[in-house]
Amino acid sequence: MVASGLDPATWKGVIESLEEFMPYYERANRATTFGRLERWRSLASRTASPADAVLEIGPGPGSFAGTLPCHRVYLLEPSRTILRFSRYHLRDPRYVALSGLAEAIPLREGTVDKVFCIFSFRDFLDRRRGLEEVHRVLRPGGELHILDLFRPPPGLQRTLMDFWLRRGAGAFVDIVVPARVRRAWKRNPYVELRKTYEAIGPGQDYADLMREVGFDRIVATELQLRAVYLLEGVKPSTT
Ligand SMILES: C[S@@+](CC[C@H](N)C(=O)[O-])C[C@H]1O[C@@H](n2cnc3c(N)ncnc32)[C@H](O)[C@@H]1O
Repeated sequence: MVASGLDPATWKGVIESLEEFMPYYERANRATTFGRLERWRSLASRTASPADAVLEIGPGPGSFAGTLPCHRVYLLEPSRTILRFSRYHLRDPRYVALSGLAEAIPLREGTVDKVFCIFSFRDFLDRRRGLEEVHRVLRPGGELHILDLFRPPPGLQRTLMDFWLRRGAGAFVDIVVPARVRRAWKRNPYVELRKTYEAIGPGQDYADLMREVGFDRIVATELQLRAVYLLEGVKPSTT
């Protein structure tokens, strides 16, 4: 469970639903996080500088990538529909679109200074393989920043998060997305979101996985209810 990821059928459904949901994704996410989204994202990008070449895995609509000051920003995305969507919002030549998966990143070893996975790590098909690929494309001393929703260990926080995702979050979609649009959807995005949440373990498990893959100086910052974490690590300079 920890090192593997979504099964291919679930993954396909998640991608199809994200493609339909993309025009409303940002507004819905801001609403369901009660406006905390921007603060969490800026925490993840606080060390990014104009001197950096960076990679964002799974840019979605490009809202996070659009805030980065870096001279080169690779956008890696498996869905051509979503990639077109993010490119539409990010027309500056600093942005380079790459079609592909985190599990096989189409970049040479040591290409980037930083990698960001902002709410995309949970969707990986193979999380260990994805982390190994991130480690490969980072230069020695380069940083990985993962911001995501994890399923808390059994206890009060898990009960609250499970309840919120079953009953609460979907209601925001009804407010944010017009009914005629929702009626035309093949899938409910919050049903798909729940599947990705149920298929991931506690954030701390993935800090351990980062260590196993070879990352160093790992810090797990809890942002909400032992469910939202910022996991950060560095590729050692000596490897
Ligand atoms: C929930 S969206 C995150 C969007 C954005 N990063 C944000 O700040 O909210 C997840 C993104 O990850 C992409 N994704 C899913 N599986 C992936 C994989 N195995 N490799 C790379 N990207 C993936 C999806 O297509 C989508 O663009």
